[in-house]
Amino acid sequence: MKKDFLSIADLTREEIYEIFDLTRELKEKTRRREEHHLLKGYTLAMIFAKPSARTRISFETGIYQLGGYALYLAPTDIGIGKREAVKDIARVISRYNNLIMARLFDHADIEELAEYSSVPVINGLTDYNHPCQIMADAFTILEHLGSLENIKITYVGDGNNIANSWINLASRLPLNLVICTPRSYEPDKATLENALQAGLSKIEVISDPVEAVKDADVVYTDVWASMGQEAEAEERKKIFKPYQVNAELLKHAKKEVKVMHCLPAHRGDEITDEVLDGPHSIVFDEAENRMHVQKAIMVKLVENQKR
Ligand code: CP
Ligand code: NVA
Repeated sequence: MKKDFLSIADLTREEIYEIFDLTRELKEKTRRREEHHLLKGYTLAMIFAKPSARTRISFETGIYQLGGYALYLAPTDIGIGKREAVKDIARVISRYNNLIMARLFDHADIEELAEYSSVPVINGLTDYNHPCQIMADAFTILEHLGSLENIKITYVGDGNNIANSWINLASRLPLNLVICTPRSYEPDKATLENALQAGLSKIEVISDPVEAVKDADVVYTDVWASMGQEAEAEERKKIFKPYQVNAELLKHAKKEVKVMHCLPAHRGDEITDEVLDGPHSIVFDEAENRMHVQKAIMVKLVENQKR
């Protein structure tokens, strides 16, 4: 296993399933309130250049349950890359803490952070990807549908960090993945090329939402304007309107379709209240699994460091 977890493409298929096995075990222990202090005395520095609810809460609670401790470093605390060079912060934190989780704008910054840190770095979202989220999502699909590999997963919306991470997963596991975005909002070209070259998955990028969700087992959506794109929000609302996940669109999917959203949701934009709160929605299972899967990732990275 690599030192850091920056992208799902850093993992092999085997490592992904090992993380899921440990996730299952830790989730069960958490449910039974059975002590599992696998990271006793370990500290996690959490650097946030953008806001967060789930990522902060799930990492902070997760490391505590593992017997460790987390430090929350808000956007105004470090000023990473502004007040201080990324590589200096990397080396300083490595002298204090055993793990780093960072949510940054530029993906190149998290790569630099990892390069100069002697401790494992976990990507808690960049403009490019959100690997912890998609690991939790994939685990949630496994729990609900029993497999990731014989089902149709359709992502509808912006070709953003979430879409890129789904494509990264498709470069490692055989998926049937449809990405549906308005033209010129497609996911990262190099990421798609790379996944297609891996030759494992069927990946389609199309712009017609009705065609995209046809017979889908899972319909996934995310905000139309990500953090940092607030100035474009109004314009995007107009462009993305036909991509709303609503009851009408879901009529074209499988009858038992599962609906997913990484949250936070803009209710009434990319997803309706009716769908988000309705019987097909598994968004809160997905949110819960962030914590279980991240605990497994932290344990695996620490075990890997000891080798
Ligand atoms: N899904 C997710 O990462 O949520 P936050 O932005 O609240 O952390
Ligand atoms: N695409 C969203 C995901 C939030 C978890 C964003 O980057 O804001």
